Amino acid sequence: MTATGESLQAHGPDATTFRNVMGRYPTGVTLVAGLDEQGEPLGMVVGTLTSVSLDPPLVAFLPSKTSSSWAKMRHLRRVCINVLAADQEALCRTFASKAVEDKWAGVAWHPAPSGAPVIEGSVAWIDCEIEEVLERGDHYIVLTRVEGMAAARSVSPLTFVRGGYGRFSIDSLVAEEQPGLMDQLRIAQLARGLMEHLAQETGYESTIQASVGDELVILAAAGGDDPDWAGENHVGIRLPFIPPFGGIFMAWSSTEAVHEWIERRWAPSTDQRDQQVAALQDIRDAGYVVVTPIDPQVDAVLDKVFDGDAPEPEEIQQLRDRIQALDPYYVTQFSDDEELTVRYLGAPVFDRRGRVVVVLRLIVGEVLSGAQTRPLVRRLVESADAITALIGGVRPETDQDVAELKGDGQ
Ligand SMILES: Cc1cc2nc3c(=O)[nH]c(=O)nc-3n(C[C@H](O)[C@H](O)[C@H](O)COP(=O)(O)O)c2cc1C
Repeated sequence: MTATGESLQAHGPDATTFRNVMGRYPTGVTLVAGLDEQGEPLGMVVGTLTSVSLDPPLVAFLPSKTSSSWAKMRHLRRVCINVLAADQEALCRTFASKAVEDKWAGVAWHPAPSGAPVIEGSVAWIDCEIEEVLERGDHYIVLTRVEGMAAARSVSPLTFVRGGYGRFSIDSLVAEEQPGLMDQLRIAQLARGLMEHLAQETGYESTIQASVGDELVILAAAGGDDPDWAGENHVGIRLPFIPPFGGIFMAWSSTEAVHEWIERRWAPSTDQRDQQVAALQDIRDAGYVVVTPIDPQVDAVLDKVFDGDAPEPEEIQQLRDRIQALDPYYVTQFSDDEELTVRYLGAPVFDRRGRVVVVLRLIVGEVLSGAQTRPLVRRLVESADAITALIGGVRPETDQDVAELKGDGQ
């Protein structure tokens, strides 16, 4: 035995040290899924996915010999490895639990080419045929050949490190479009006076919303004329930044960032893409949005959130699922005698480079005529422009300005 071998033998780590040290190495989280002989789905949460070879395409993962989930799956010939998204933590916890009886209840999936389940909402899936199972120590090494694969969603994958879940953001992708949260908080602070003025003058609550990663977050709220106003509670509310949600943030963004945002939907159709791009153009032309009822299910969850009831994780998941199905819902053109059920109005605040840094909103929640809505929109846009000026920002005015922001300029 070599000197190194001896020293490893003599000073081999105990289980706690091994887990503690290896737990500092972050992993993604996958759900390995397959179908039993009756066609019923089986699944197991696995963090040990690794790519093995490109030619031929091989990947491997390591189930524990003591896993009861793997005991049920070990005779499968094909599995689909689903890379879980950051918003699928609840699903992950369900599958990783020994206590849950029916782990597949309420899980939406469709068959991969092999028939094995592709979980709706996964960021990617890898459809595999099991080639070889090796035994090493207390684990198996399952070597599989990749038969099919797809990147399904452009959202953050779920990550796991030191026993905790997290998310991942690619700095180079988000940095250009994503001012730091501290910048946005500073703006919200600077804008406070103007927001309060706007709220008092109009009688409606005014909020500042920022985009942070793949979420929209309310950073500040100022009350209207309602004596029972408890809108401070709205600060910190986070909503999914999935199209069509967050359109104002994207209306002046680069073509690449818009593409990334649109691809956050599951497999958007060409029509959906085109419709979304056209809706962003409308917002850019108008400089504001009027948001009327969106969808009964989505509105119900939003109302609950704004009434101060924390939604259940399943409701947020349902909200995400439902948003995926929505068409762009922003209204930018309306006539004076038109009746509008106005949920809220939104207008952009720009930074020095002409990028949308936060969105100023007026939470209306009333039926108004177009003629009543118009002056509110004007006041909102004036206030947003005043905040832009206050922070030294500039509104992109010309087509050339916009083309430069979109990265399409000459
Ligand atoms: C993030 C995460 C990663 C995991 N990775 C693995 C893994 O690579 N191999 C494994 O055998 N179990 C892994 N597990 C544990 C399994 O999911 C385990 O099957 C589950 O906890 C239920 O236990 P059971 O299979 O005995 O019912 C992981 C669990 C979590 C939460």
